[in-house]
Amino acid sequence: MDNRVILFDTTLRDGEQALTASLSVHEKLQIAQAIERLGVDIIEAGFPVSSPGDFQSVQAIAKTVKNSIVCGLSRAVEADIKACADALSVADQFRIHTFISTSDVHVQQKLRKGFDDVEAMAVHAVKYARQFTDDVEFSCEDAGRTPIDNLCRMVESAIKAGATTVNIPDTVGYTIPNEFGGIISQLFNRVPNIDQAVISVHCHNDLGLAVANSMAAVQAGARQVEGTINGIGERAGNCSLEEIAMIIKTRHDLLGVNSGINHQEIARTSKLVSQLCNMPVQPNKAIVGSNAFSHSSGIHQDGMLKAANTYEIMTPESVGIAKTKLNLTSRSGRHVIKHRMESLGYQESDYNLEELYNDFLALADKKGQVFDDDLEALLFNIQQQGEQEYYHLATMNVQCGVGEFATAGIKLISGDSSQIVSATGNGPVDSLYQAIKQAVDIEFEVSDYKISNKGAGEDGLGKADLVVAWQGRNFHGYGLATDVIEASGQALIHCLNSIHRAQTIAEIKEQKKESQV
Ligand code: KIV
Ligand code: ZN
Repeated sequence: MDNRVILFDTTLRDGEQALTASLSVHEKLQIAQAIERLGVDIIEAGFPVSSPGDFQSVQAIAKTVKNSIVCGLSRAVEADIKACADALSVADQFRIHTFISTSDVHVQQKLRKGFDDVEAMAVHAVKYARQFTDDVEFSCEDAGRTPIDNLCRMVESAIKAGATTVNIPDTVGYTIPNEFGGIISQLFNRVPNIDQAVISVHCHNDLGLAVANSMAAVQAGARQVEGTINGIGERAGNCSLEEIAMIIKTRHDLLGVNSGINHQEIARTSKLVSQLCNMPVQPNKAIVGSNAFSHSSGIHQDGMLKAANTYEIMTPESVGIAKTKLNLTSRSGRHVIKHRMESLGYQESDYNLEELYNDFLALADKKGQVFDDDLEALLFNIQQQGEQEYYHLATMNVQCGVGEFATAGIKLISGDSSQIVSATGNGPVDSLYQAIKQAVDIEFEVSDYKISNKGAGEDGLGKADLVVAWQGRNFHGYGLATDVIEASGQALIHCLNSIHRAQTIAEIKEQKKESQV
């Protein structure tokens, strides 16, 4: 049996489904490129028929990503499959992933059909998808709860119809490792044409077993594992891909399988996904949690000083966590910044050195020492500015004190015009937000607001994460600055720019409709 395990990333599809605010095309592209650098084999970029925004982002990713196969999801109906093919046809190679439920509860209660009809729909969908590409994946939704005879029958029919990968999802995270591995073994024993497709697994984490179930399936012969970065996804999430990659590497002695992952890209991919998706990673999360490589107990620290492998089964460097924390100051030159970025895993082609250096100097002037986390935060900030901005906070002045109303004065640029506005509020952020609200013609509600420390130490960069609701949709925005009030202002401006883009798209659609009448 082939010892290569194909890794399939669905952060932008299953993962994105679970976010409070959807990602912009620009953010999805950034994540897709990071996942490509990570060495993932297949990137499921979205569900093209679900919205024009999803279609557009799948298309943009298919155009840009070259080293991973880009895939789109479709129900087992022609319109969905056609939308996938249309969005993906710009890619050199692409995969269409089509699915239908196979468990009794889904077939009877959700689809209200008989199993024969569902099987016929699956066969038709696979054959139809094969008209657009030779790379077709079929998923038996809720396979974990599907009677084994039905599952064997469906897998055999899907392969006969032309599916090149057949995916066995534990959609509701119900099975336990022995049981799930057993399902895969039975498929290998009972489906006569099983050798003509790659058997894949897609496990959810409702009982905290997604990774364990996926690994049991690999031991039973599955050769594709689906998952997401940081395990984000529906409900308790999906199988965490970075955990799978590190299990395969660390326990090669036992498992004898490999993946194509560039392990040193793990830490920064995880950080990017966490930041853009507004999904913090728990400190004790395996592989990418902030405590994953810290040792607190005196006995452990003593052991580590004597020999790291007393308590460490993998090194932080192996997942891309840099060891040396060099302190940079305004006296550090460009070459030092470039060298530091290289040791953090960033090539010069990933960023504009001049731009980063100017931001670095401005930060070094404000806070003296600049740390690795600060540098990464500056780069993150620059990458967010890739999109054309309509609103821009040119100046702000906020005054507050205990027992007094806070006052904010701002100059806001909106397209070609600008306004100077002032407002009061029950605190500095409230006064700033009241002033911005007066200057824009958008009725929004702040539904979530968080401040966190991004750089190191008490003078590190502050990050504001904001979720704003507008016309039934949520928009996530963030801002980074040494001053948390300024970061809060930037976060709101970021949300307003996303709302402005959504308004423009809605207007264009309306005009198109009118011109067709
Ligand atoms: O969990 C699931 O069953 C899915 C399928 C669409 C693969 O996400
Ligand atoms: Zn899923």
